[in-house]
Amino acid sequence: MTRHFLNLSDAGGDAVAAMLNDALGRKAARLGWPMGRSDADAPLAGRVLAMIFEKNSTRTRVSFDMAMRQLGGSALVMESGSMQLGRGETIADTARVLSRMADAIMLRTDDHAKLEELAAHASVPVINGLTDQSHPCQIMADLLTVIEQGKALPGLEVAWLGDGNNVLNSIVEAAGLLKFNVRIGVPEGYDSDPVFVERAQAGGASIAVYRDPRMAVAGADVVVTDTWVSMGQTGGEARIAAMAPFQVNEALMAAAAPGAVFLHCLPAHRGEEVTDAVIDGAQSVVWDEAENRIHAQKSVLRWTFGQL
Ligand code: CP
Ligand code: NVA
Repeated sequence: MTRHFLNLSDAGGDAVAAMLNDALGRKAARLGWPMGRSDADAPLAGRVLAMIFEKNSTRTRVSFDMAMRQLGGSALVMESGSMQLGRGETIADTARVLSRMADAIMLRTDDHAKLEELAAHASVPVINGLTDQSHPCQIMADLLTVIEQGKALPGLEVAWLGDGNNVLNSIVEAAGLLKFNVRIGVPEGYDSDPVFVERAQAGGASIAVYRDPRMAVAGADVVVTDTWVSMGQTGGEARIAAMAPFQVNEALMAAAAPGAVFLHCLPAHRGEEVTDAVIDGAQSVVWDEAENRIHAQKSVLRWTFGQL
């Protein structure tokens, strides 16, 4: 059966843990090597990943390309607007054609249903490179970063500040699979998807919502935020006004547990959701987090090819 990675639950907790373990080992094994050199075992030699972007990207685009190179394969980057997809060719037909020309497909789209449609008609693995609903590859990198900081996932207290968006949905999903807790600090009207919350709670995670940012971060081991206005969203001014009290600044970080780390998927809007002092400060691990996109996705790719 073709393995798609549309959300973390497609793999499940055990496979996610195995991928993180694989990523740690592979990262250590190539420490200090030139970025583009293939890993010694080149496990995806000869394989090609086709990437389709409907939205902008820096990290996802470069990290998947580098991941494929390090695994011994290669990648194609396509902007949907320059494909026939952008002129009305169906997603189903695009899936059928790319399945005959590439070994896996990654899609970044504004509509999660399009990703599901692609997967339904592809005979090769399909990977979520961000949708309006979720961003599972980002959370694989986030989890890897937290583990590298010496923090065990079960029982971990993760505080999220700002908008209840796609990145938060995947954090909540991970919490249910890996048994950590999420303290969500968001203004009323900007809550995350209740389907993800209920599923994580059913999985044994504690997911609590706070309207007071200080209560959300109290005792947290990890503090995470993201842009207040995601790609494709409107109503920017109202969103920024509502979320202003949830800015991650030094005063808010001081309310977290001693030794707490700060994560941000990037791109950051400095002075909005996070201050320079926090993102450039000693508790910030955002550059490790960005680099870990490569390492985590190599293991996601290996999983989709049945190697994990
Ligand atoms: N974090 C992330 O997905 O970044 P890009 O939008 O640059 O890919
Ligand atoms: N929530 C952001 C994440 C960007 C990587 C967005 O969807 O724009």
